[in-house]
Amino acid sequence: MPASPTFSIAVLISGNGSNLQAIIDAIKNNELDATIKLVISNRQNAKGLDRAKEAGIPTLLVDHTLYLNREEFDQAMLDALTRYQPDLVVLAGFMRILSAKFVSALCGKLINIHPSLLPLHKGTHTHKRALEANDSIHGCSIHYVTKELDGGPVIAQSQVPIYPNDTEELLAVRVQKEEHRLYPLCIGLIAKKKLELVDGAPVLDKQPLTNGGIKFRQSNYDTYYLK
Ligand code: GRF
Repeated sequence: MPASPTFSIAVLISGNGSNLQAIIDAIKNNELDATIKLVISNRQNAKGLDRAKEAGIPTLLVDHTLYLNREEFDQAMLDALTRYQPDLVVLAGFMRILSAKFVSALCGKLINIHPSLLPLHKGTHTHKRALEANDSIHGCSIHYVTKELDGGPVIAQSQVPIYPNDTEELLAVRVQKEEHRLYPLCIGLIAKKKLELVDGAPVLDKQPLTNGGIKFRQSNYDTYYLK
């Protein structure tokens, strides 16, 4: 029987690209059976572009400042994605709001990582806002992308504690460590077809995922790595 083609992804970034790096590393370490076909950045100086080049991944700069409006910018990215035909498009620190057309063209094939326990703290400055709200736990969420900003159905969340003397910076480091574990893992679940979007709702092993998706803590990560 011919081998099935490797699950392919495109990653969209705007900056540092530490989540991109985590995905690259997971593939290299055989923890994620996938291939990155393309990395798109809207910023020329994004460190993530260097990370992609270092890993031998094709890169594309789509500079949003060169387009008249959001729709034209999004169309340029859609054109590139149509050429590469990835199975999944992964937003990893991509700092542009996407048009309804872009989101609906990739319905069920577009996921994002957000640094909070959604629906809490949508938008930016999430660590600062978690501290100001006196939250005792914080974390990150992976969700399918819909037209509503940071509002699509949540696939998985990973929690971290907030300690009494925490700062924004300390919290950011703690959350990012979880992000780097959680994102490759969720991509792997989608690649293995264990996880999919059915009628607008995430389904894991044929069971609907409710209440904020899969809840990860360090102790149960291994379960989901099992092939
Ligand atoms: C991450 O914190 C992610 O949750 C948010 O943007 C940040 C990107 O970081 N969407 P990096 O570029 O992957 O280092």
